[in-house]
Amino acid sequence: MNDATGDLPLDPSTLDLEWHRVCSVREIEDEEPFFDKVGGRSLMVVRQGARIAVFDDRCPHLGASMMGAMVEDGQVECPLHGASFDASSGTVLDGPTTQDLVCHPTQIVDAQVEVGLPRPGSSS
Ligand code: FES
Repeated sequence: MNDATGDLPLDPSTLDLEWHRVCSVREIEDEEPFFDKVGGRSLMVVRQGARIAVFDDRCPHLGASMMGAMVEDGQVECPLHGASFDASSGTVLDGPTTQDLVCHPTQIVDAQVEVGLPRPGSSS
């Protein structure tokens, strides 16, 4: 379960989102997470072929950065204690946590990855 929303997948049309450019699709190596700070949040972008997902850069186990995470066989693994998550949805698969990664609505516009974050002051 996603601790930010309670359900996956998110329906962006029901949320009051502000879209932010994160990076170019070309900047993300396949299965090599890309990290950046956007809209005041630290984010991790994971690409597996044509599938791109954007998560908070925060492992739900102890809140550590996922910097150094391994991505393999559709899973992303925290470098600290090995929790593994579905690389598309953030659903926890194994390890010392029962919480999912926070996954954000994502869109590709003109080969740019955009993330939908709650508009400041909105309740979503
Ligand atoms: S901080 Fe990620 S598994 Fe412990």
